[in-house]
Amino acid sequence: MLTRLAMESDYPPVGAFHARCSPESLHSRYLSGRRDIRLPEWRRLIDPAAGWTWVSAPEQDPGRVVAVSHVLRVGPGDSATGELGILVEDDWQGQRLGSQLTRAVLSHSLAHGLNNVVIVTNGTNVRMVRIGRALGAVVPRVFSPVIEMTLTSPDRRDGA
Ligand SMILES: CC(C)(COP(=O)(O)OP(=O)(O)OC[C@H]1O[C@@H](n2cnc3c(N)ncnc32)[C@H](O)[C@@H]1OP(=O)(O)O)[C@@H](O)C(=O)NCCC(=O)NCCS
Repeated sequence: MLTRLAMESDYPPVGAFHARCSPESLHSRYLSGRRDIRLPEWRRLIDPAAGWTWVSAPEQDPGRVVAVSHVLRVGPGDSATGELGILVEDDWQGQRLGSQLTRAVLSHSLAHGLNNVVIVTNGTNVRMVRIGRALGAVVPRVFSPVIEMTLTSPDRRDGA
């Protein structure tokens, strides 16, 4: 799998990727009925001031985007926290791509000035909850429809 920072020219394959994703996956990603990303929004997502957006494609088919991941800064009041967004195409789910990408983007974010990356997801999203837990997030004991998990560096988790 090849994963690299996204560019504006990735917009057409990212649009095709969204069209191939199931409504269930899109709902899990966006927590709404959204089905696609519009060009102005894509431009905002790839703006370095917003954070980082990556596209992933199989080595044998580099033009076919099969996952998009982001860490976006939460806002001007909190420059140390980013929010994860990740969407893996249905046919590629359950093959550890989401785990690998989350680990990689967390590592990148911590190395580039963030202290925390939050995951906002549905409490019933078993895969995402397992990924958060594997990376040290405290998973809420009471699952509301939407939960927040915070990823941070092992040093910080140990209280160092
Ligand atoms: C959530 C998502 C990113 C996970 O990525 P993935 O590549 O499918 O998941 P992985 O293969 O890395 O598996 C993650 C965990 O779920 C487990 N898992 C995988 N398939 C599973 C299944 N069908 N049932 C239960 N657990 C499953 C894995 O064993 C792993 O747990 P472990 O590390 O404890 O063994 C991906 O499924 C996705 O894009 N879903 C739709 C969008 C979304 O939900 N985004 C997250 C909110 S931003």
